[in-house]
Amino acid sequence: MSTIDEIKSRIDIVDLVSEAGVKLRKAGRNYTGFCPFHDNKHTPAFVVWPESGTWRCFGACNEGGDIFKFVMKRDGLDFKEALQKLADRAGVELKEYVRETPQQREAYDHLRGLLEDALIYYRSRLFENADVLGYLRQKRNLTDATIESFGLGYAPPGYDNLLNHFKDKYMPQDLADAGMLSERDSGGFFDRFRHRIMIPIRDEQGRMAGFGARIVNADDNPKFLNSPETAIFTKGRLLYGLDRARKPIRAADQAVIVEGYLDVIALHQAGYENVVSPMGTALTEDQLRLLKRLTRRIVLALDPDAAGQKAVLRGLDAARSAMDREAELAFDAHGLLRSESRLQADLRVATMPDELDPDEIVARDKNEWQKIIADAKPIVAHVMETLSAGQDLNDPKIKNEIAAQVLPLIDDLGSPMERDTYRQALARMLRVDERSLMATQSKGQVVRRKPRKNEPTRAESAPVIALSPGRIIEAHCLSVLTQTPTLLYRLDRELEAFGLSPLAAEDFEYTDHRLLFEALKRATGQDEKEYDQFVLSQITDDLGALMDELRASAKKINSSDDKFLDDLAARFLDLRRVRAMDSVTQLKFLQADDQEQGGENVKIYIEQTMRLTRLLRGLDQARLKLSKH
Ligand code: CTP
Ligand code: MN
Repeated sequence: MSTIDEIKSRIDIVDLVSEAGVKLRKAGRNYTGFCPFHDNKHTPAFVVWPESGTWRCFGACNEGGDIFKFVMKRDGLDFKEALQKLADRAGVELKEYVRETPQQREAYDHLRGLLEDALIYYRSRLFENADVLGYLRQKRNLTDATIESFGLGYAPPGYDNLLNHFKDKYMPQDLADAGMLSERDSGGFFDRFRHRIMIPIRDEQGRMAGFGARIVNADDNPKFLNSPETAIFTKGRLLYGLDRARKPIRAADQAVIVEGYLDVIALHQAGYENVVSPMGTALTEDQLRLLKRLTRRIVLALDPDAAGQKAVLRGLDAARSAMDREAELAFDAHGLLRSESRLQADLRVATMPDELDPDEIVARDKNEWQKIIADAKPIVAHVMETLSAGQDLNDPKIKNEIAAQVLPLIDDLGSPMERDTYRQALARMLRVDERSLMATQSKGQVVRRKPRKNEPTRAESAPVIALSPGRIIEAHCLSVLTQTPTLLYRLDRELEAFGLSPLAAEDFEYTDHRLLFEALKRATGQDEKEYDQFVLSQITDDLGALMDELRASAKKINSSDDKFLDDLAARFLDLRRVRAMDSVTQLKFLQADDQEQGGENVKIYIEQTMRLTRLLRGLDQARLKLSKH
């Protein structure tokens, strides 16, 4: 991932814009507010698209872009300065500029292919084993369709099944690099997964990343064994099930996090598809950030034995050592609250009744799940409830203990109103008056949580890229253009023939792409310098790196082909189409707001909508002609 993408993935545009003093309001999947760049303060004309990380002013400015553009415009910076500023904010080191080289990418794809093969191997072993299959069908209530679609498999006992099976196809070292083999101290390799149910783990784009493996034999240890950390498997950056849950999460505008693989599978089978799980490690802010691109509403469905239920009073370290996991999905209320306010997310906690796991709940009654999730409580309310359950609230010692746990959490809350509300609620629950409650706190009886040993700091915890489709299409088109500059001219002719405007900087919404495109275009229009030299003389190092990368990914394309030009044109048409549609949708919201406020911008909005409608018609006609080519 490039530094630029990494910065993008770590900075939420909604946070950035809000911090600049723009009050944003949700309008559909997006946000609207007053444009900070021009001074109409009557009706909002400014729109933020969290999913693509972009913004646009539909009012006087009629301009838009990404986070870089926003900072450039707001602070009057150039791209390099904005990059530095946002890199600092994101905790990304600009100098340690490690790019995924083409060789690396090839190597990763090789590992992914290998894992796909391993999956096929394990699956056929599963269908040969009546016992394990029976366990999944009868004990776990999984249908064959579910087993199939989640790619479940079985690794037979023995140390060299996989090793031998792939001996003619893969080098042992490659199998080991993918996490499938372990290395003996004495040298040589052996199967990592033996006599286990194999659960393939994919990244959010659906690419194979690794496996989780559950014991078949109740006495074996550990209960779950995951792939080791490899180049393509980083537990803290992945969420199990996210590849399938993306759309449902968006549709439901809610994500539910459970603790186990089998819970994810059972819930999907029961029709609840907005569910994901971490893989036996504490939830990271990166994982929350991944989800937050899809929704702000996140529910943690905690197992009854989860740290949160019993451990809050005992202290988290005790809870940790008591668990048989590498690091449990700790219910770390402080950490979660801080993430919640940093990410401006709505985090809630749902608890499972009757000591049941989510998969057992849906097995008992499918509809119960809905109710449990609907009853999820904000974190502070959840902690208050958990701590007071079964306690003698008349005992002053207990009152004091609970207050000592809850008050620091209340301090973590972002809004003063929320803090007030919870202080009052706590006082009411403990039947003390608020002033003596506050006095407890100032006497210093409050225990602050010590940072945990392995707790990732912000900069360490790595992000995952969820590149928006628009960014991917832009990058693809640019990569082709860097590879074959003459295509730009041919593409413009083709667009013109369709009655459409030639390719322009405005077609690129992402600042790095836009700057590179401008340089490419200038390069084709000059003949003083050799093409590459000219481009490089026009751009900063980071963009030079971007160009290398884009060019590397375009290698395999045969650009002399006319079909290929059509394909490129088609992609640009789609890009323009999606953007125009997005704008039309947003304009509807803006127009509605505007009407309420007296209709100041109504003319501008109608004009823009009409222009976009004409554009859409033109694009559709062009698309039709293209498909007949
Ligand atoms: N886990 C892990 N390593 C372990 C134990 C658990 O990584 N040694 C992770 C797994 O992702 C597992 C989750 O924690 O799915 C929850 O663990 P647990 O509640 O013990 O198992 P369940 O998923 O409920 O599995 P089952 O229902 O089959 O008992
Ligand atoms: Mn379970």
